[in-house]
Amino acid sequence: MARVVIVSNRVPLPSKGAKAGGLTVALKDVFKQGALWLGWSGELAAETATSAKIHATGKLDFATIDLSEQDYRRFYVGFANSVLWPLLHFQPGLLEFDREDFEGYLSVNRAYAKALAELLRPDDLIWVHDYHLIPLAEALRALGVKNRIGFFLHVPFVPASVFSILPSAEWLLRMMLAYDVVGFQARQHLHDFEDCLRNFLNIARQSGEPIWFEGRPVIVDTFPIGIDSRAFARQAKKAAGSIAGHRLFESIAGRSFMIGVDRLDYSKGLPNRFEAFGYLLDRFPEHRMHVTYLQIAARSREDVTEYQRLKHELDRLSGEINGRYADFDWQPLRYMTRAVSRANLAGFHRQARVGLVTPLRDGMNLVAKEYVAAQDPEDPGVLVLSRLAGAAEDLTEAIIINPYDPEEITEAMHAALIMPLDERKDRHEKLFEKICRTTAASYCRDFLNALAGTATSTGMPTSQ
Ligand code: ADP
Ligand code: G6P
Repeated sequence: MARVVIVSNRVPLPSKGAKAGGLTVALKDVFKQGALWLGWSGELAAETATSAKIHATGKLDFATIDLSEQDYRRFYVGFANSVLWPLLHFQPGLLEFDREDFEGYLSVNRAYAKALAELLRPDDLIWVHDYHLIPLAEALRALGVKNRIGFFLHVPFVPASVFSILPSAEWLLRMMLAYDVVGFQARQHLHDFEDCLRNFLNIARQSGEPIWFEGRPVIVDTFPIGIDSRAFARQAKKAAGSIAGHRLFESIAGRSFMIGVDRLDYSKGLPNRFEAFGYLLDRFPEHRMHVTYLQIAARSREDVTEYQRLKHELDRLSGEINGRYADFDWQPLRYMTRAVSRANLAGFHRQARVGLVTPLRDGMNLVAKEYVAAQDPEDPGVLVLSRLAGAAEDLTEAIIINPYDPEEITEAMHAALIMPLDERKDRHEKLFEKICRTTAASYCRDFLNALAGTATSTGMPTSQ
């Protein structure tokens, strides 16, 4: 059987401890039985490496490269997270384009290609993840690599009118078409990608058909990511009775409990969510003293200016809300910027009557699925979900809101807090069934099947 080689900028190295982020969370469990995973070590060195360090475990092996300080700034902080991330999350006002960063993006992709080419076997299936590594297939082909290469974008895509803001927009689209398979989380993202193909390259895709680009077929499709819902449900049940679960329970003291779990990222809509919570206490005095909202916002990308600015804003807003509404024995908003272990998160979700997932844009949003999985089916909580998260295409039994309207979030919080048990159970049952249908394992299987069945530019057989 062909070996799977995963390539992503972030890798879940066992020695590094957990870092919040959907990409690694979804893949780690599925591939624990075997694969090679190449990515950034998380370390800085004098020079960016073009040969990887191997961390063999016999099952899931890791290969890592260090980045130079300059490449970290240009590639990761710069082009990836100050240009592509805001652009693909519909925030062109936050885009900070710099030609040197763009050069850094290219040269780090070439370094990845060199490091990877040394490790490859002829029948490896190469699966590249996310916006950091879009030009990797082209860089690998330039080194003579003939393997099949797939690309999955974990974040949203934008229509041509937005994509055209990017200098080198057409070039980046061509880089995407250098892959044999290109996958998206949601139908809307695929739709927007097709809009770009039509506008920039005059390519019209027939639904269900591959695209033909420079004489080669490119499969383009959606592969919605998921979690191992049943395992997470078991973890949640167990963790609710853990020491941390117990401490949380005691501290809530019988009040209604709402939770939000996100990376501290401007795409997550946190200021609007805080504002909505303030309105809830304003407009619905019956919730004063009776509700506690815990926001776990793990610090993320702290070298990117916009993330520093957001943290200041949230620090200020949380202080303002607590200063205004708290009483000597009640703190309405608990805001913490540390990451929490997965087991504790599961237990915390289970205790929450309301799960708040209100991103301004999101590829999928795994937290929405984790919240649903963690609920007690006999007394489940209610998910409040942004219509602009990929997850909303499927999870229609959540209370769906527009995250740009804080008052709509407020109304949803109120509706969720007072929802009768029958309705909660009914919605939860349907949601749980859905998250069991599309899991991390089914996502990987579907993508790899598409990749394995692809004829490559070298005319390799289509079945394997
Ligand atoms: P993104 O990929 O943008 O971070 P997702 O919701 O898809 O968003 O995935 C985030 C993953 O990281 C989830 O598995 C979630 O449980 C985890 N995570 C998010 N915030 C935290 C946190 N504060 N502490 C621990 N894990 C977190
Ligand atoms: C999102 C992105 C991932 C990224 C993760 C954490 O999930 O899609 O590519 O790894 O956020 O961000 P970080 O910058 O810490 O890797």
